[in-house]
Amino acid sequence: MHIRRRDDLFELWAPAKLNLHLEVLGRRSDGFHELETLMCPINLCDTLYVQSHSSGRIWLDCQFADRRLPNGSPEARLADEGADNLVCRALELVRHEAGVKLGATVRLVKRIPVAAGLAGGSSDAAAALVAAAAAWKIDFTPQDLLRLAAQLGSDIAFFLQTGWAVCRGRGEIVQPVAGLGNLAVVVVTPPQGLATADVFAALRRHDEQRGRTDHEHRSIDGLLDAVQTGHLGRIGQALHNRLQTVAGRLSPWIARLADEFARAGVVGHLMSGSGTSYFGICRGARHARGIARRMVARGLGRAFVVRSRQ
Ligand code: C5P
Repeated sequence: MHIRRRDDLFELWAPAKLNLHLEVLGRRSDGFHELETLMCPINLCDTLYVQSHSSGRIWLDCQFADRRLPNGSPEARLADEGADNLVCRALELVRHEAGVKLGATVRLVKRIPVAAGLAGGSSDAAAALVAAAAAWKIDFTPQDLLRLAAQLGSDIAFFLQTGWAVCRGRGEIVQPVAGLGNLAVVVVTPPQGLATADVFAALRRHDEQRGRTDHEHRSIDGLLDAVQTGHLGRIGQALHNRLQTVAGRLSPWIARLADEFARAGVVGHLMSGSGTSYFGICRGARHARGIARRMVARGLGRAFVVRSRQ
């Protein structure tokens, strides 16, 4: 996470992530699922501006870089959330934890699509934890921040570090791995999003219908090895997301995107997280721009030409 300070104003860049591997290892007694996932940050970012003040209140102004978003979209709902927004909850948690009486003015500029499998909300929340600690001059240890992150959501801990990581547990146990910067990727976000909880619930129903809760687990090792050697073709072949089949039952966009990316001749393609964003790894920036134009022309949604960050 990138942080910059101008006087008492803190500016943070909160990146989106992609999952190159996501396996569900089982169901836990707390209702969550045990995961193993390889995540990489990309250069599609929200920006968070935080300024401390003495009023004791937290004000959030949420703006969207893309002004063409339709009413009723997940983005429009997010703008109405106010204090329920994960950013406000992160600030309140820090305030409570540290016994701070100060308030803050927060401006969030959203570029990462909402409810889209890119963890924009989680990244914003991680940025909010770091910004609040800085603005209110609280000396949290990295362990303190990880504990607070886990209270707010499964993906947040990933964004407290930089770079690629294998995440396990609910997603909150983060093991950094050497990644690849500058992978040229096209991310397409279709008009319909999915709630993470709905996709996991669909997976449970799917397993129950089959009369078994276990499935064969795809190993992450082949992909990690391909990433370590930087072999694009092998990376493309090893991509895996256990949630893709069930998300495809909830949203027809997944199959359409899979089909279009396969036809476009990308190195590899996959749904990210619990969807519905879908990405393709390309041979380079030109290849990526061409594919993005094609996806938009076919009405598949918003397309972003991005790069992985190391
Ligand atoms: O923790 P987070 O808010 O991201 O999770 C959203 C929902 O996704 C949870 O309430 C849960 O239903 C589901 N989930 C899960 N197992 C995980 C992560 C999320 O079942 N490891």
